[in-house]
Amino acid sequence: MKFFIDTANLAQIKEAQDLGILDGVTTNPSLMAKEGIKGEKNILKHYVDICKAVTGDVSAEVIATDYAGIVKEGERLAKLHKQIVVKVPMIKDGIKAIKYFSEKGIRTNCTLVFSAGQALLAAKAGATYVSPFVGRLDDVSTDGLQLIEDIRIIYDNFGYETQILAASVRHPMHIIECATIGADVVTCPLNVILALLKHPLTDIGLAQFLADAKK
Ligand code: E4P
Repeated sequence: MKFFIDTANLAQIKEAQDLGILDGVTTNPSLMAKEGIKGEKNILKHYVDICKAVTGDVSAEVIATDYAGIVKEGERLAKLHKQIVVKVPMIKDGIKAIKYFSEKGIRTNCTLVFSAGQALLAAKAGATYVSPFVGRLDDVSTDGLQLIEDIRIIYDNFGYETQILAASVRHPMHIIECATIGADVVTCPLNVILALLKHPLTDIGLAQFLADAKK
Protein backbone atom coordinates (compact mmCIF):
# COMPACT_ATOMS: atom_id res chain seq x y z
CA MET A 1 0.00 0.00 0.00
CA LYS A 2 1.28 3.45 -0.93
CA PHE A 3 1.64 6.18 1.71
CA PHE A 4 0.92 9.76 0.65
CA ILE A 5 1.27 12.72 3.00
CA ASP A 6 -1.73 15.06 3.11
CA THR A 7 -0.18 18.50 3.55
CA ALA A 8 1.32 21.47 1.72
CA ASN A 9 3.89 21.97 4.49
CA LEU A 10 7.34 21.53 2.91
CA ALA A 11 9.13 20.74 6.20
CA GLN A 12 6.68 17.91 6.96
CA ILE A 13 6.88 16.63 3.39
CA LYS A 14 10.69 16.54 3.62
CA GLU A 15 10.54 14.78 7.02
CA ALA A 16 8.26 12.07 5.60
CA GLN A 17 10.45 11.75 2.49
CA ASP A 18 13.54 11.34 4.71
CA LEU A 19 11.84 8.42 6.47
CA GLY A 20 12.08 6.57 3.17
CA ILE A 21 8.48 5.38 3.13
CA LEU A 22 6.77 8.22 1.27
CA ASP A 23 5.12 7.53 -2.09
CA GLY A 24 3.51 10.90 -2.81
CA VAL A 25 1.69 14.02 -1.65
CA THR A 26 -1.89 15.24 -1.70
CA THR A 27 -2.83 18.88 -1.30
CA ASN A 28 -6.08 20.79 -1.44
CA PRO A 29 -6.95 24.51 -1.43
CA SER A 30 -7.50 24.45 2.36
CA LEU A 31 -4.06 22.92 2.97
CA MET A 32 -2.42 25.51 0.66
CA ALA A 33 -4.23 28.34 2.49
CA LYS A 34 -3.07 26.89 5.83
CA GLU A 35 0.55 27.37 4.70
CA GLY A 36 -0.23 30.98 3.67
CA ILE A 37 0.45 30.28 -0.04
CA LYS A 38 -1.44 32.97 -1.94
CA GLY A 39 -1.60 34.15 -5.55
CA GLU A 40 -1.41 31.99 -8.68
CA LYS A 41 2.34 32.46 -9.22
CA ASN A 42 3.21 31.45 -5.63
CA ILE A 43 0.80 28.52 -5.68
CA LEU A 44 2.28 27.12 -8.93
CA LYS A 45 5.83 27.59 -7.58
CA HIS A 46 4.87 25.79 -4.37
CA TYR A 47 3.63 22.77 -6.36
CA VAL A 48 6.98 22.63 -8.17
CA ASP A 49 8.85 22.90 -4.85
CA ILE A 50 6.80 19.98 -3.49
CA CYS A 51 7.56 17.92 -6.61
CA LYS A 52 11.28 18.58 -6.16
CA ALA A 53 11.10 17.44 -2.51
CA VAL A 54 9.58 14.02 -3.25
CA THR A 55 9.91 11.23 -5.80
CA GLY A 56 6.21 10.32 -6.15
CA ASP A 57 2.93 11.76 -7.38
CA VAL A 58 1.76 15.19 -6.19
CA SER A 59 -1.97 15.99 -6.38
CA ALA A 60 -2.72 19.63 -7.28
CA GLU A 61 -6.37 20.64 -7.16
CA VAL A 62 -8.20 22.77 -9.74
CA ILE A 63 -10.36 25.64 -8.52
CA ALA A 64 -12.55 25.90 -11.63
CA THR A 65 -15.89 24.10 -11.53
CA ASP A 66 -16.90 24.37 -15.21
CA TYR A 67 -15.64 21.97 -17.89
CA ALA A 68 -13.64 24.51 -19.93
CA GLY A 69 -12.12 26.02 -16.79
CA ILE A 70 -11.17 22.64 -15.30
CA VAL A 71 -9.54 21.58 -18.59
CA LYS A 72 -7.57 24.85 -18.91
CA GLU A 73 -6.41 24.83 -15.29
CA GLY A 74 -5.67 21.09 -15.28
CA GLU A 75 -3.55 21.28 -18.44
CA ARG A 76 -1.58 24.14 -16.90
CA LEU A 77 -1.01 22.20 -13.68
CA ALA A 78 0.00 19.04 -15.55
CA LYS A 79 2.61 21.00 -17.55
CA LEU A 80 4.25 22.22 -14.32
CA HIS A 81 5.98 18.92 -13.54
CA LYS A 82 5.78 15.26 -14.57
CA GLN A 83 4.84 14.25 -11.00
CA ILE A 84 1.69 16.41 -10.95
CA VAL A 85 -1.66 14.62 -10.80
CA VAL A 86 -4.63 16.92 -11.51
CA LYS A 87 -7.13 16.79 -8.66
CA VAL A 88 -10.69 17.27 -9.92
CA PRO A 89 -13.88 17.48 -7.81
CA MET A 90 -16.62 14.87 -8.19
CA ILE A 91 -19.09 17.01 -10.10
CA LYS A 92 -20.67 16.59 -13.55
CA ASP A 93 -18.16 18.83 -15.34
CA GLY A 94 -15.40 17.20 -13.30
CA ILE A 95 -16.28 13.76 -14.64
CA LYS A 96 -16.32 15.13 -18.21
CA ALA A 97 -12.92 16.71 -17.61
CA ILE A 98 -11.49 13.48 -16.12
CA LYS A 99 -12.57 11.63 -19.28
CA TYR A 100 -10.88 14.32 -21.40
CA PHE A 101 -7.67 14.20 -19.31
CA SER A 102 -7.60 10.41 -19.40
CA GLU A 103 -7.76 10.43 -23.22
CA LYS A 104 -4.93 13.01 -23.28
CA GLY A 105 -2.75 10.92 -20.94
CA ILE A 106 -3.03 13.45 -18.09
CA ARG A 107 -3.32 11.71 -14.71
CA THR A 108 -6.16 12.64 -12.37
CA ASN A 109 -7.33 12.27 -8.79
CA CYS A 110 -11.12 12.49 -8.43
CA THR A 111 -11.71 14.14 -5.06
CA LEU A 112 -14.62 14.74 -2.65
CA VAL A 113 -15.97 11.22 -3.16
CA PHE A 114 -18.52 10.09 -0.57
CA SER A 115 -20.40 7.23 -2.25
CA ALA A 116 -19.75 4.04 -4.21
CA GLY A 117 -21.77 5.41 -7.13
CA GLN A 118 -19.46 8.42 -7.37
CA ALA A 119 -16.42 6.11 -7.27
CA LEU A 120 -17.91 3.99 -10.08
CA LEU A 121 -18.34 7.09 -12.27
CA ALA A 122 -14.76 8.21 -11.53
CA ALA A 123 -13.43 4.81 -12.63
CA LYS A 124 -15.56 4.77 -15.78
CA ALA A 125 -14.25 8.24 -16.69
CA GLY A 126 -10.69 6.90 -16.35
CA ALA A 127 -9.49 8.58 -13.14
CA THR A 128 -5.99 7.50 -12.06
CA TYR A 129 -6.99 7.83 -8.40
CA VAL A 130 -10.30 8.13 -6.59
CA SER A 131 -10.33 9.85 -3.19
CA PRO A 132 -13.09 8.67 -0.83
CA PHE A 133 -13.03 10.79 2.36
CA VAL A 134 -13.08 8.29 5.24
CA GLY A 135 -12.84 10.71 8.19
CA ARG A 136 -15.45 13.16 6.92
CA LEU A 137 -17.95 10.29 6.54
CA ASP A 138 -17.14 9.12 10.08
CA ASP A 139 -17.74 12.75 11.20
CA VAL A 140 -21.38 12.48 10.08
CA SER A 141 -21.96 9.06 11.69
CA THR A 142 -21.44 7.10 8.45
CA ASP A 143 -18.93 4.25 8.14
CA GLY A 144 -16.12 5.66 5.98
CA LEU A 145 -14.23 2.37 5.91
CA GLN A 146 -17.32 0.54 4.65
CA LEU A 147 -17.16 2.82 1.60
CA ILE A 148 -13.54 1.77 0.95
CA GLU A 149 -14.64 -1.88 1.18
CA ASP A 150 -17.54 -1.33 -1.25
CA ILE A 151 -15.35 0.46 -3.79
CA ARG A 152 -12.72 -2.31 -3.57
CA ILE A 153 -15.37 -4.93 -4.40
CA ILE A 154 -16.81 -2.89 -7.29
CA TYR A 155 -13.42 -2.13 -8.83
CA ASP A 156 -12.32 -5.77 -8.50
CA ASN A 157 -15.59 -7.00 -10.04
CA PHE A 158 -14.85 -5.16 -13.27
CA GLY A 159 -11.07 -4.84 -13.20
CA TYR A 160 -11.05 -1.03 -13.00
CA GLU A 161 -7.47 0.20 -12.74
CA THR A 162 -8.37 3.41 -10.85
CA GLN A 163 -6.44 3.35 -7.59
CA ILE A 164 -8.39 3.75 -4.35
CA LEU A 165 -6.71 6.62 -2.48
CA ALA A 166 -8.26 6.61 0.99
CA ALA A 167 -8.33 10.28 2.05
CA SER A 168 -9.33 12.15 5.19
CA VAL A 169 -7.48 9.44 7.13
CA ARG A 170 -7.29 10.62 10.71
CA HIS A 171 -5.69 7.92 12.89
CA PRO A 172 -3.52 4.77 12.73
CA MET A 173 -6.48 2.35 12.81
CA HIS A 174 -7.83 3.97 9.64
CA ILE A 175 -4.51 3.07 7.98
CA ILE A 176 -4.56 -0.53 9.28
CA GLU A 177 -8.18 -1.03 8.17
CA CYS A 178 -7.45 0.47 4.74
CA ALA A 179 -4.50 -1.92 4.35
CA THR A 180 -6.68 -4.86 5.42
CA ILE A 181 -9.43 -3.93 2.95
CA GLY A 182 -6.93 -3.41 0.15
CA ALA A 183 -6.95 0.35 -0.51
CA ASP A 184 -4.13 1.12 -2.95
CA VAL A 185 -3.07 4.33 -1.17
CA VAL A 186 -3.72 6.17 2.09
CA THR A 187 -3.13 9.89 2.50
CA CYS A 188 -2.87 11.41 5.96
CA PRO A 189 -0.98 14.02 8.00
CA LEU A 190 2.58 13.28 9.19
CA ASN A 191 1.49 12.77 12.83
CA VAL A 192 -0.81 9.90 11.76
CA ILE A 193 2.03 8.17 9.86
CA LEU A 194 4.35 8.64 12.86
CA ALA A 195 1.68 7.26 15.23
CA LEU A 196 2.13 3.87 13.49
CA LEU A 197 5.62 3.71 15.04
CA LYS A 198 4.34 3.82 18.57
CA HIS A 199 3.79 0.90 20.94
CA PRO A 200 4.37 1.07 24.71
CA LEU A 201 5.83 -2.46 24.73
CA THR A 202 8.46 -1.32 22.18
CA ASP A 203 9.47 1.54 24.50
CA ILE A 204 9.50 -0.71 27.61
CA GLY A 205 11.41 -3.46 25.76
CA LEU A 206 13.99 -1.06 24.37
CA ALA A 207 14.57 0.55 27.78
CA GLN A 208 15.11 -2.95 29.25
CA PHE A 209 17.52 -4.00 26.47
CA LEU A 210 19.54 -0.78 26.84
CA ALA A 211 19.68 -1.22 30.64
CA ASP A 212 20.78 -4.87 30.26
CA ALA A 213 23.38 -3.90 27.65
CA LYS A 214 25.13 -1.82 30.32
CA LYS A 215 25.42 -4.82 32.67
C1 E4P B 1 -7.04 14.69 0.46
O1 E4P B 1 -7.04 14.47 -0.71
C2 E4P B 1 -8.16 15.35 1.16
O2 E4P B 1 -8.29 16.64 0.66
C3 E4P B 1 -7.94 15.33 2.62
O3 E4P B 1 -7.49 14.04 2.99
C4 E4P B 1 -9.11 15.77 3.46
O4 E4P B 1 -8.84 15.51 4.81
P1 E4P B 1 -9.66 16.18 6.00
O5 E4P B 1 -11.05 15.63 5.96
O6 E4P B 1 -8.95 15.77 7.24
O7 E4P B 1 -9.65 17.65 5.75
